[in-house]
Amino acid sequence: MRPLVLGGICLCLAGAAQAADWPADAAVDPNAQNRTLTPRVVVNSGRLEWEPHKRDLTPWPTLSHLDRRATPRPQQANYNPPLRGDPARGREIAMDPARGNCIACHTLPGESWPGSVGQLLLGYKQRGVSDAYVYQQIYDRRVTNPNTVMPPFGTLGVLSDQEIRDLTAYVQSLE
Ligand code: HEC
Repeated sequence: MRPLVLGGICLCLAGAAQAADWPADAAVDPNAQNRTLTPRVVVNSGRLEWEPHKRDLTPWPTLSHLDRRATPRPQQANYNPPLRGDPARGREIAMDPARGNCIACHTLPGESWPGSVGQLLLGYKQRGVSDAYVYQQIYDRRVTNPNTVMPPFGTLGVLSDQEIRDLTAYVQSLE
């Protein structure tokens, strides 16, 4: 296992220009695959081990108070109907920790450990809101609520147009 290099230390090792983009408490190792590290609990040891993350998360601002990088401005989505979304694919994206991970915050049907931070999305079908509204909430909810904790999946380029369409179809299908 490579040693954990915190942002502050990277400043000396990796050069100021690159390290300045990372929060001071980011778990970053410039030599690791994807540069980002993620902790793994070592069972019954009281220790964490750090391993390379599946994705390079260094360009994205975090919720850390030490992370003072500018966030991209809220963006109005460029949504063109018809929706052409697949609710079954949308459900997969919502449950997948590496993609939507909507389940981390929202209560969704068929999952035993749902999140409780986000609004209840059960019964969304009955609300009768437009696809364009739902698409925008997933693309960048800051347009509706500037103080939202929900990540702007479209603006940050985490999800593609088709993935957001599939998620919109899924949310709109929830009874
Ligand atoms: C980090 C937590 C978090 C994640 C992850 C998250 N959401 Fe949210 N979402 C929220 C919160 C909290 C709200 C409502 C309050 C707010 O804006 O902060 C919300 C609001 C919404 C709304 C708007 C509801 C309405 O009618 O106004 C929709 C739709 C939605 N989320 C769908 C999703 C989908 C789909 C995903 C996955 C791609 C997702 N959310 C991921 C926290 C989250």
